[in-house]
Amino acid sequence: MSLKERIAGFEAELQGLVAQTAEEAEQLRVKWLGRNGIITGLFEEFKQATSPEKKELGQVMNRLKTAAQERIERIRAATAPSTSIEARAVDMTAPAATDFAGSLHPITLTRQRIVDVFERIGFTVSSGPEVEDDHHNFSALNFPPDHPARDMQDTFFVDHGHDLALRTHTSSVQVRVMEGGTPPIRTVSPGRVYRNEAISARAHCMFHQVEGLYIDKGVNFVQLKGTLDHFAKSLFGDEVRIRMRPSYFPFTEPSAEVDMSCTICGGKGCTVCKHSGWVEIMGCGMVDPAVLTNCGIDAGTYSGFAFGMGVERIAQLLYRVPDLRLYWENDVRFLERFSAEAFRR
Ligand code: PHE
Repeated sequence: MSLKERIAGFEAELQGLVAQTAEEAEQLRVKWLGRNGIITGLFEEFKQATSPEKKELGQVMNRLKTAAQERIERIRAATAPSTSIEARAVDMTAPAATDFAGSLHPITLTRQRIVDVFERIGFTVSSGPEVEDDHHNFSALNFPPDHPARDMQDTFFVDHGHDLALRTHTSSVQVRVMEGGTPPIRTVSPGRVYRNEAISARAHCMFHQVEGLYIDKGVNFVQLKGTLDHFAKSLFGDEVRIRMRPSYFPFTEPSAEVDMSCTICGGKGCTVCKHSGWVEIMGCGMVDPAVLTNCGIDAGTYSGFAFGMGVERIAQLLYRVPDLRLYWENDVRFLERFSAEAFRR
């Protein structure tokens, strides 16, 4: 085989060279470019050649040598262990990576915790539509036709006849449960409700409630108070106390507002409880017999109690949330606080 043919063979072989490690790359370098390597050997032969093609052969030889140097240098670079800071590409000023895996929203967590307490003492969970008719949201609940709560200022009506509206409370679900079943009834109705309020730190036009209803023979106010005391202690600890203040709702008689000793200051007085030591957490009362009758339940045989609370308010006390608007802004710095809570459940 002529020298020219062998050079062509080496050129082809060069293209297929590979190395996995720096040692293999070094072996290739010695084999091809070392003092006793292929290229040196070829140049020795070339020196002895006398053929008239010598000039052309020289060019081919030089091309092979350059190609070998380039090829092997590239292989060495690819297999060399990187030592420089640039190569390691560590940016010491970059923020640390976090392992934040997402979380449940505090309103979801709070709703679950509230519902858990009542499920454990035998309440079922019921739900109903967010667009309600006048009957379920108002009439069956004993709201007189001219009651101010039906006013445009509080209610988002969705039709001109004012029969359909976004529900203003989940008491509407309780009407549906009473109409569809027979006592004993023990149910809680969590859900979204709507009222035409200006949005501020303390109010929103859309919020969440959990309302509860218990109907059976001989249900009384003592049971109502005991149930709500159990609820408050289950969620906030054994040291909290509740108190009731007389109030008014069209669908309960008697009615009360429930206050809880302030969990932020322990009752000593702070900005959250406006220095009273008490925070309002819900409304409640004995179901008005007229409501039972409206819903097809014999008011002579049965009695019941009902209560309703705002989930945002309970979450605010559980997690010390200073401003209602935080629930809606989806700021991860706020939401991240609840990731551990989600895993604890
Ligand atoms: N439905 C009332 C509200 O939305 C709360 C409530 C429920 C009060 C049941 C008494 C009894 O404010």
